[in-house]
Amino acid sequence: KTFYVLNGPNLNRLGKREPGIYGRETLETVELRLAEVANENEISIVFRQSNHEGDLIDWIHEAEDAAGIVINPGAFTHYSYAIRDAIASVSVQVVEVHISNVHSREPFRHTSVISPVTKGQIVGFGTQGYELALRSFL
Ligand code: DQA
Repeated sequence: KTFYVLNGPNLNRLGKREPGIYGRETLETVELRLAEVANENEISIVFRQSNHEGDLIDWIHEAEDAAGIVINPGAFTHYSYAIRDAIASVSVQVVEVHISNVHSREPFRHTSVISPVTKGQIVGFGTQGYELALRSFL
């Protein structure tokens, strides 16, 4: 089984970016941690990050035959109807992750245009959220 773990804009700066909100762990560390879970469970993971909306859309299409998608669309969460439509266009289940508790932050972060087309959302558990999301599929 193959799972896609997709990260949107500015998540390449994890560890350096607003550490009070997002913590000190880098995306490379997240990837390594997920690789361990993948090993234990004999699954494979395609782990990607892009700052470009179209890349995320292409990868969602590419993942149509995957066993599941974990996605943190970054700020696209709040306004990208194109990413929402991409998710709606595939039958693979999608779990949305946010490192921070978006509901305790600025009002524009309280809305996710993605959530209505996902299986569920994991919010506010830091970078551990990626692992929780992946395990939800196992
Ligand atoms: C985020 C929350 C978004 O509001 C923000 O734009 C991000 C990261 C999170 O993981 O907490 O880039 O998705």
